Amino acid sequence: MQAMRYSIKAGAIDKLPTECLVVPVWSKNTLSAEAKHLDGASGKALSAVLKSGDFNGKLGETILLYKPKGISAQRLILVGAGDRKKLNARNAAKLVKAAASAVSKTQASNAHFALASADITDREYPWLTARVAQELEDVCYRYDATKSKKGKKPATKSASVSPPAGARRKTIDESLRTGQAIGKAINRAKHLGNLPGNVCTPSFLANEAQALAARNKSVTTQVLSEKQMARLGMGSLLSVSAGSVEEAKLVVMQYKGAASSSRPYALVGKGITFDTGGISLKPGGGMDEMKFDMCGAASVIATLGCVAELKLPINVVAIVAAAENMPGSKATKPGDIVTSMSGKTIEILNTDAEGRLVLCDALTYAERYKPRTIIDIATLTGAAVATFGSQANALLSNDDKLAATLLECGEDSLDRAWQLPLWDEYQSLLNSNFADIANIGGPRAGTITAACFLSRFTEKQKWAHLDIAGSAWHSGAQKGATGRPVSLLMQYLLTQKA
Ligand code: BES
Ligand code: MN
Ligand code: ZN
Repeated sequence: MQAMRYSIKAGAIDKLPTECLVVPVWSKNTLSAEAKHLDGASGKALSAVLKSGDFNGKLGETILLYKPKGISAQRLILVGAGDRKKLNARNAAKLVKAAASAVSKTQASNAHFALASADITDREYPWLTARVAQELEDVCYRYDATKSKKGKKPATKSASVSPPAGARRKTIDESLRTGQAIGKAINRAKHLGNLPGNVCTPSFLANEAQALAARNKSVTTQVLSEKQMARLGMGSLLSVSAGSVEEAKLVVMQYKGAASSSRPYALVGKGITFDTGGISLKPGGGMDEMKFDMCGAASVIATLGCVAELKLPINVVAIVAAAENMPGSKATKPGDIVTSMSGKTIEILNTDAEGRLVLCDALTYAERYKPRTIIDIATLTGAAVATFGSQANALLSNDDKLAATLLECGEDSLDRAWQLPLWDEYQSLLNSNFADIANIGGPRAGTITAACFLSRFTEKQKWAHLDIAGSAWHSGAQKGATGRPVSLLMQYLLTQKA
């Protein structure tokens, strides 16, 4: 697919030769500076719309005017900006999303976003322009990889934004580039997540990571086979794939943007390409959604690709623990005890708590890269869905500073996280009579005990865990992957130093 093109376009907006012009209107029928300008040029066409009552400037509301008189644009989209004093980043993102979505529904091949007068209470203009690019990429995503009739692609090919009053053009150019790269990475994560389990297997994910390395000189990918994992003693990870004919893969992607001596940031993704629960079989209803159990892996692969595209001046190692959890005849049984790469033995009381079993060996493996921080991303517990719904990524960490940084990055990127406690008092729930540790902690505090399990394998590291079971995909009519938490991870890596 042809990449979208973004640019800055200066000049009077009534004379801009664009196929689609977007301007904001405040609520209570208050025209923005841009809207006022067009109102004058068009003989009060915008005032007439407000007078009609069809549009009131409510946040996220849009209305399309075709070939407005006195204006060069073929289409004019008014987007509601809501209460002028309440335009914070979150509301501004809603405005941008609504505008981008309205643009993508037209046949316009280019669009101009004239939003410079919309002052955001807690952000600068370059943030808004980055958001325009990110949201436009996001709303233009269509899934049709496994449909025989390919849907019509959005007509949008390029977009421009107005220059700011003060900020340097270079800053805006950069923000457009960053926003687009993040939007594309979100789409890559969505795409991998949406692919069905019979297409997106562990080998498929490994190939995807290898293709990424082939496209980027600064990325190398290494794929460990089950045999190699067995030699490393990854008995825990291998216990998950034991019941499947699909071979597990440990995928290691390394991005070098800094000196080789610079310690990397490590990302570790849960890549269960389908989770039946194994012998602790899940109920049938809605089980199809367990194809999304590799969304952590997808976010990690997409983020590494984005880091490489933006040539960030840091080193990153991304590790994907990919396996299919099936109840085949060689499957692990409840009560089985396995030895992890760390040497710790694990009593597997529930084969449906498989994410932590693949992650613990991947986390141990990550130690060899001496990472500055390790963040694992996993659709780990139904309890995270019960606790947070689809809004928050659950965050647990053994390092208060890292946790605070990630919470802040979540606020900044609007891909928000909320912290749960990782208190020692929860650890005893994982006691086992027969092994060093059990793989489940009972019916209560499920998200916390899952993180407690992982914490046993990251004791020497600055580590954080993002449980994205609620945020990674939508159920129901909008069923599909969201691409989260790519923008949170990018915000983190964009603000780290070598
Ligand atoms: N992949 C699931 C978690 C999940 C469940 C995500 C529902 C989204 C929606 C994970 O492997 C799992 O099955 N977890 C179990 C753990 C339990 C057996 C301790 C769960 O949450 O029920
Ligand atoms: Mn499971
Ligand atoms: Zn799972």
